[in-house]
Amino acid sequence: MAFIDIRTIDKFYGSFQALSEVSLSIPKGAFVTLLGPSGSGKTTLLKILAGFEGVSAGQILLDGRDITALKPEARNFGLVFQGYALFPHMSVFDNIAYPLKVRRKGRGEIAARVEAMLDLVQLRPFARRKPQELSGGQQQRVALARALVFQPDLLLLDEPMSALDKKLRVDLQDQLRDIHQRLGTTFINVTHDQEEAMHMSDRIAVMNLGRIEQYDMAHTLYRRPASRFVADFVGKSNIFAGTVEGGAFATEEFRMALPADGARPGAAELVIRPEDIRLGAAVAGDVVLAGSVAASTYSGDRALYSIALPGGRVMLTYGSARDGALEPGAPVQIAFDARDGILI
Ligand SMILES: Nc1ncnc2c1ncn2[C@@H]1O[C@H](COP(=O)(O)OP(=O)(O)O)[C@@H](O)[C@H]1O
Ligand SMILES: [Mg+2]
Repeated sequence: MAFIDIRTIDKFYGSFQALSEVSLSIPKGAFVTLLGPSGSGKTTLLKILAGFEGVSAGQILLDGRDITALKPEARNFGLVFQGYALFPHMSVFDNIAYPLKVRRKGRGEIAARVEAMLDLVQLRPFARRKPQELSGGQQQRVALARALVFQPDLLLLDEPMSALDKKLRVDLQDQLRDIHQRLGTTFINVTHDQEEAMHMSDRIAVMNLGRIEQYDMAHTLYRRPASRFVADFVGKSNIFAGTVEGGAFATEEFRMALPADGARPGAAELVIRPEDIRLGAAVAGDVVLAGSVAASTYSGDRALYSIALPGGRVMLTYGSARDGALEPGAPVQIAFDARDGILI
C-alpha cells in the first residue's frame, strides 16, 4: 500500500492552473524526486504536501488517512526549503534543537537527539558556531539535521543544493543518500537537475507544465521514456521525427526495419542515445550515416561530438579522447543498431 497517496490534485492560482491531475503513489521509506524545469509545478506540489498551500481538487492520504486539510504543524513533516533559513542568532546546536523545544521535549532527550544528528551530518565540531560561521554546504547540513531531528514521517526537500557549487553538490547528494539509507525515512526531493535526480532517487516523477509526464525508476525513464519531453529532459538524446509504415521507420536521413512487435503506423519519433551511436566502425545491420564533426566538448575521459549530417541535422555521440578530440570539419561515419532506438 502507498504510504503517501497523492490523488488527482488540481491547483489553481486565480485562473492559472499550476497543477493538473497530479497523482503519485509513494511507498514507505522511498526516495522520490520531482524533476522538471522551472515553473513545472514542483514547489507547488511540495507546498501542498507540507500544508502551506491548499488544493483546488484532489486528496492526499498518509498511511490511508486523509490529510488534505491538515495544518502544516499537524503533519509532522520535515522541511528543507529554498529560503527556509536557519535562525542566524542561534548556534548550530540550538538550531537543530529548536523543533524539539517546540515539541516540549526534556533537556536530556534534546541533548541526546541533537548529538545524534550532529554525528549524522558530521558537524559535531561545529555545534557552538553560528550559521554565518559555516560554509553553504555546512549550513544545508544543519537545515537537514533540524528537519530530521524530530523523526518526521516524511522529509520534503526543495532544491536544497541549488546554491552550492558542483563539487559540494555531489558530496551533499552522496551524504543525503547515505542518510536516507541509514534512517529509512521517506524522502521527497525537488530538483531541475536530472543528474542529481538519477544519482539519488529510487523513483523519479518528471513534471512538465503542471503534469506528471512519467513516474518510474531512473533506468526506465532513461531507456523507456514515455514522451518526447522525458526523452529530451532526462539525459542527452537524438530525436528523429519520422513515419512508421510497412514495419519500418523512415526519416529524411534513413529508413530502418522495426522489431516485429508492430508499432502503430503514422507519425512517430525515434530516440537514440548518444552512447548507442558508434563513431567510425559499423557493425553488420547497422544504420550507417556520413557526416562531419561540427563541434566537440572534451572532458578528459571522453569527448562529446556534434556530428553534422548533410541535411543539416546534428547528432550527438561520444568518442574516445585518449589522443585528443577530432577536429571540427573532420569527415566521420556514424552507425547505430536500430534495436537501440526508442520509438515514442
Ligand atoms: N502564489 C502564486 N501565485 C500565482 N502563480 C504562482 C504562485 N506560485 C507559483 N505560481 C506559478 O505556478 C507555476 C509553478 O510554479 P512552481 O510550483 O514554483 O514551479 P517550480 O517549482 O517547478 O519552478 C509557475 O508558472 C508559477 O509562476
Ligand atoms: Mg521551485
